Amino acid sequence: MQDLSQWPNLKAKYLGKKSELNKILRGLKDLSDEERKKIGPLANSVRGEIERWLQRKRAELENKVDQEKEWLDVTAPGQRIQPGHLHPLTLVQNQIEDIFTALGFEIADGPDVETEFYNFDAINMPDDHPGRDMQDTFWISKEKNRPKGSGVVLRTQTSSVQVRYMQKHKPPLRIIVPGRVFRNEATDASHEHTFHQFEALVADKKISVANFLQVAETFFTQFFGEKIKIRLRPSYFPFVEPGFEFDISCTNCGGKGCSTCSQTGWIEVGGAGMVHQNVFQAAGYPRGKYQGFAWGFGLERLAMMKYKINDIRLFHSGDLRFSEQF
Ligand code: DAH
Repeated sequence: MQDLSQWPNLKAKYLGKKSELNKILRGLKDLSDEERKKIGPLANSVRGEIERWLQRKRAELENKVDQEKEWLDVTAPGQRIQPGHLHPLTLVQNQIEDIFTALGFEIADGPDVETEFYNFDAINMPDDHPGRDMQDTFWISKEKNRPKGSGVVLRTQTSSVQVRYMQKHKPPLRIIVPGRVFRNEATDASHEHTFHQFEALVADKKISVANFLQVAETFFTQFFGEKIKIRLRPSYFPFVEPGFEFDISCTNCGGKGCSTCSQTGWIEVGGAGMVHQNVFQAAGYPRGKYQGFAWGFGLERLAMMKYKINDIRLFHSGDLRFSEQF
């Protein structure tokens, strides 16, 4: 018997009305008492034996695996999994972190929802400071007569991590802070309400603008994979003195002048300066004991230069046609 469909026939053949066994059982009544006593129990035990055998056979067939159906070709090629893509901002951030950790920098972090104190007051931008007007801020809470610095904001700059970090660490220190920042801006091809900055902060007993230039030049040269020059222009940021904006030689024309750099040979990148003693003081350091430099600029801008992306809004668009290119 090979499969279950044959089982009822088999049962009929051995136990059914027309079976040999049944004939014997039915014939018992015609036998003498003596013969019946001998044959009766024997026939019944044979019947039990056949029943048990049929049950076993049935269970066996029910559990039988269909080898044809269950056959698995272990050599068949697997289903191809579509690999994902790292977002261009992640690529840029990873690369920045690699370059700076190789230079001995640590990577620091702070909250996106920040107190007014760390975002403004601690870095020399008190409530009445006109510098606050340079940044359109998303306020979470801002009561009229609140204690100094107690408002809550979506951080407008990664500079907010400077004093947070310095309160817990003493110089010498070298950190970078890549992170998300927010501004209440009308958006266009070069402005977003949510973007990323990356801050650098170095503090020790003797740090000068020359150290800044050296680190900046090393970083940009490695980042773009070609020799980059740095140019400083005097500027103002409340948390540094002196403060400057810095440009890098145009990555498109190498400094000769082209349409990317408006024929100047330079591209504006970010802000920097020597850390203001008020900032050190807010971190609990004695005035005049340490020197340091800080810089900050937009990650999107770097990614746009590196990958020739012409609209900042693409980064958060969620458009696969964009992100699959990286
Ligand atoms: N936080 C500034 C901004 O968002 C950028 C900046 C300028 C950061 C000068 C610095 C700095 O650390 O020294 O506009």
